[in-house]
Amino acid sequence: MHSAAPLFDALKHFVERDQAPFYSPGHKGGRTLDPWFRDNIAAIDLNNLPDTDNLHSPAGPILAAERLIADAWGVPQSFIVVQGSTGGNIAVAFSALHPDEPVLVARNAHKSVLAGLVQVGARPVWLEPRWDAEFGVAHGLDAAVVESTFANSAAKALWILHPTYYGTCGDIGVLAGMCRRNDAKLLVDGAHSPHFAFHPDLPASGETSGAAATVQSVHKILSGLSQAAVLHVDTAVIDPASVRRALQLIQTTSPHFAIMTSIDLARRQMMLDGRALLDQTLDRARRTADRLEDIDGLRVLRQHDLAGAGTGLHQLDETKLLIGTSGLAADAREIVGRLNSIHGVQPELAGTGHVLCITTIGNTDRDMDRLVAGFTEVAAHVGRNDENQPAGLTADVLAVRPETALTPREAFFAADKTVALAQASGRIAAEAITPYPPGIPLVMPGERFSADVIALLSALRTAGNPISAADPSLETVKTVR
Ligand SMILES: Cc1ncc(COP(=O)(O)O)c(C=O)c1O
Repeated sequence: MHSAAPLFDALKHFVERDQAPFYSPGHKGGRTLDPWFRDNIAAIDLNNLPDTDNLHSPAGPILAAERLIADAWGVPQSFIVVQGSTGGNIAVAFSALHPDEPVLVARNAHKSVLAGLVQVGARPVWLEPRWDAEFGVAHGLDAAVVESTFANSAAKALWILHPTYYGTCGDIGVLAGMCRRNDAKLLVDGAHSPHFAFHPDLPASGETSGAAATVQSVHKILSGLSQAAVLHVDTAVIDPASVRRALQLIQTTSPHFAIMTSIDLARRQMMLDGRALLDQTLDRARRTADRLEDIDGLRVLRQHDLAGAGTGLHQLDETKLLIGTSGLAADAREIVGRLNSIHGVQPELAGTGHVLCITTIGNTDRDMDRLVAGFTEVAAHVGRNDENQPAGLTADVLAVRPETALTPREAFFAADKTVALAQASGRIAAEAITPYPPGIPLVMPGERFSADVIALLSALRTAGNPISAADPSLETVKTVR
């Protein structure tokens, strides 16, 4: 039995297949990495030694690398993070928020933002992002939503997702101005934005638009290894010593030197060749979007779909291909299954009515040809869906506003009880429950289950919608005792 190594075998099989990679990491199987670095990843798996420096109190090459990162991204100070944007977002919560303090947070925030809120005990005021029924995704925040919430709260911070997973952005300039007028810090989960600083056709970046803190996953789009992230700080607003203290508290004491070095090299690559590499990437992605749109039944989110200044759909990262599939007579997951099994094309994800492909400096013209050929065959195979999609239950999920009774931290640490969903009315949730679509939590920890919420959750369960929860079957839910 123990001669088996199932994970090793699965990865070996995956790598040995000839895949067209439309997923992150951005280096696409090592294509964009420095050759010496790629060949010596095991050799540089070192410990904190006098020659290598120490991430927790850098004084040598790590400090020099962090200074170059700050210079490249155009910010006062940057920190290397080896635990992804997940670690970066938690460090932001520790450095910028206080227990019980109100903070405006986009409801489609990544769960690491919720983790930060639970750890600090801040009081989130949830903001509904702009919903896109055609593509079945949530975008950024409409400025009007933020403005009216600022007026009714004493929030000292606004925490946004910029861009969304799908590459769409709200109007960060307007949001930053609103924060300044309200004396509030702008915090940016920019996990998908490490490349914005390096090309003028990409959306405005958090770190140059007035954010107090911006977190970016270098691994998602640039040549970072998985977990490689950076945290940029405006030191006039956030004390860098508090950030270092937070990172010391949450990061491993054995950071992988290959992860840290990949950020150093990704920075060098962008500063030396970034403009030209991103020119090619954008050009390739735009041409591919044109070709995909020529396929009967497909749509691609393009510049002309943007909704204008002040909206949650103000700018678009065109390196991401958000492909609307509701014109085809198959579920997006089936489409991705066929793309993978028949054509060796692997997108990043499939959701209801969409497929997301991440293209980076690591993709080639051949990858793009395979993507287009794959979609052409799959579209012909499954055929068109000419019926209007029923709105389903998504509109109901978006309309529900459960009452907030406790902070996420209070709910998380309260004595809890697992109860049948039907018996949960009036109880306070001790977990987040997220139906797909829309992929926005219907219930957050600390919010109260009402009869309406329970009826909607039961309907979602009956309709077979995938649900992320402690018990995904929703037979039971976790509540405060
Ligand atoms: C918006 C957003 N924020 C944060 C994260 C966490 O990033 P990481 O995987 O680098 O920890 C992700 C990951 O997908 C994300 O999509």
